[in-house]
Amino acid sequence: MLRRSLLQMSRSDRIKDAVSTMPVSSGIVARFVAGESLDDVIDVSRRLVDDGRLVSLDHLGEDTLDQEQADATVQAYLTLLARLAEEGLAPGAEVSVKLSAVGQALGADGGRLALDNARKICQGAMNAGTTVTLDMEDHTTTDSTLSILRELRQDFPDTGAVVQAYLHRTEDDCRELAYAGSRVRLCKGAYKEPEQVAFQNRREVDLSYVRCLKVLMAGSGYPMVATHDPTLIAIAGALATRNGRDSGSFEYQMLYGVRPDEQRRLAAGGAKMRVYIPYGEQWYGYLMRRLAERPANLTFFARSLLTKG
Ligand code: FDA
Repeated sequence: MLRRSLLQMSRSDRIKDAVSTMPVSSGIVARFVAGESLDDVIDVSRRLVDDGRLVSLDHLGEDTLDQEQADATVQAYLTLLARLAEEGLAPGAEVSVKLSAVGQALGADGGRLALDNARKICQGAMNAGTTVTLDMEDHTTTDSTLSILRELRQDFPDTGAVVQAYLHRTEDDCRELAYAGSRVRLCKGAYKEPEQVAFQNRREVDLSYVRCLKVLMAGSGYPMVATHDPTLIAIAGALATRNGRDSGSFEYQMLYGVRPDEQRRLAAGGAKMRVYIPYGEQWYGYLMRRLAERPANLTFFARSLLTKG
């Protein structure tokens, strides 16, 4: 119930205006977002890479409303990628891209525009010596995103996919994606979805996550296990061992600010551990999805709002 309200709030302009005046350095925002500038995210990335973790950087911005905004997002990624190469960070740092931020929702030609723009970012990543993963958004975009992924992989085979365990379709999608060289991030899913397409109950989502993990770990692709859930992390490790996978053949992924001790523990044990780091001015929708996942963070959020600091 609370989760649904928070996800609805993430679409409310009035609440957005009030919350967005909080400085990015305020407690709750700084916990989940690296900062608004490129320098901020480079600093955070360097700290994590020096600490033995990998990173995936997300330039925040979704629901792009016009072509100019889509172009600006592409440019932001190209600047970020060039900077990663310049700083020597590219081997440990990839980028995550939301197709809605590069034009997917812009009318009948949105899919074509998003593909062209994603292609430019993939080329920038290739020039920098790194890769792109396409984030997955709400279920109305799944088919379009997977078809853009297929096109991109013809020229950039290491482009990563994301699948969401809460969708009924995902076990089948995993079967199709579990081929050699295919990088697949498995997450639970962060959007408010109807029961026609998605499991509503946490236990059903977790069981689906395990079924998907089994398919990905038994396949010949590269699974990216994106969860903070201790049970699922343990199951992923056991399935990797059962399938004869070494620690270089899959990775764990977690969000910046969530379970940092567990991130360090996995990395120290020799696992590949990637941290998803969002940055940029449009942090509102992202922050609300994180709060919806963990209502315990609401007290912290309310305190940040009251003190605006
Ligand atoms: P769950 O929410 O059940 O949490 C399990 C445990 O983790 C909790 O009990 C708590 O201990 C801890 N925890 C989880 N969230 C927390 C928080 N915000 N603060 C503090 N502790 C927390 N989704 C999507 O729809 N499309 C996408 O492209 C992506 N991409 C993505 C990348 C990466 C690297 C990650 C880790 C996640 C995503 N997600 C995503 C988000 C994902 O779908 C999901 O909403 C969150 O990861 C939370 O789900 P968990 O698997 O962590 O389980």
